[in-house]
Amino acid sequence: MKKVVLTLAALTLLTTAHARTWAEIKQSGTIKIATEGAFPPFNVMKGKVLTGFEVDLANALAKQLGLKVQWVTQPFDNLLIGLGQDRYDFVIASHGITPERQKAVDFTNPHYCTGGAIVTKPGGPMTAAALKGKTVAVQVGTTYLENARKVPGIKDVKTFPKDTDAQAALMAGRVDAWVGDKFTGLDLVKAQKGKVMQGDLLFKEQIAMAVKKGNSSLLKELNSALAKALNSGTYAKLSSQYFGTDVRCK
Ligand code: ARG
Repeated sequence: MKKVVLTLAALTLLTTAHARTWAEIKQSGTIKIATEGAFPPFNVMKGKVLTGFEVDLANALAKQLGLKVQWVTQPFDNLLIGLGQDRYDFVIASHGITPERQKAVDFTNPHYCTGGAIVTKPGGPMTAAALKGKTVAVQVGTTYLENARKVPGIKDVKTFPKDTDAQAALMAGRVDAWVGDKFTGLDLVKAQKGKVMQGDLLFKEQIAMAVKKGNSSLLKELNSALAKALNSGTYAKLSSQYFGTDVRCK
């Protein structure tokens, strides 16, 4: 994990091209936003349509800013690297704010609060203590990986390119548990109708959008558009549509 993070920071520093400022984006009329498109219910490709809470939220923010949107999808692990290479203006893909990532990018104010939770089959490990000697599946490059590795006595943490692959490993019985987002876990439990259950929250996190390090003009506009959405009811409406509750940080 350390190695990956250092590479990210190094790439950000080495790149010479410059990120588009707010003035440049506004002038062009289109903002380029990157996400993964494989992390339901936050960002997911349904057929050919990119949808999810974060996709709808970012589209609403862009509308408020008077911009058209050009979406880019990338594997999760590449998203912040591409940001450092000026391939898009910002990333919205459920990144938790961590000190390591803050070395490479600048985060907006959080757009939701959540945590990493254990999901297992009935009879499986439901607590951090019960993960002793067990094998868990997580998506690569995530805070789930970082936090699962810290669980004392954990036997093995297997990484998968996509979160849905990690879930599939649990369903297939190849691991004892999957650690993923609390809300994603609730959806899995519902969809699997009693075949899996959600255990304890391993850690909490604040989720935010990322801009290239130093792009303060864009950061300011995104924060003010987010504040407006939070105050106007736009955010509340989307949140209740996707989660039946308000997921903003309190
Ligand atoms: N919240 C976790 C993290 O910060 C997972 C994010 C995964 N996002 C995704 N689009 N797959 O690492």
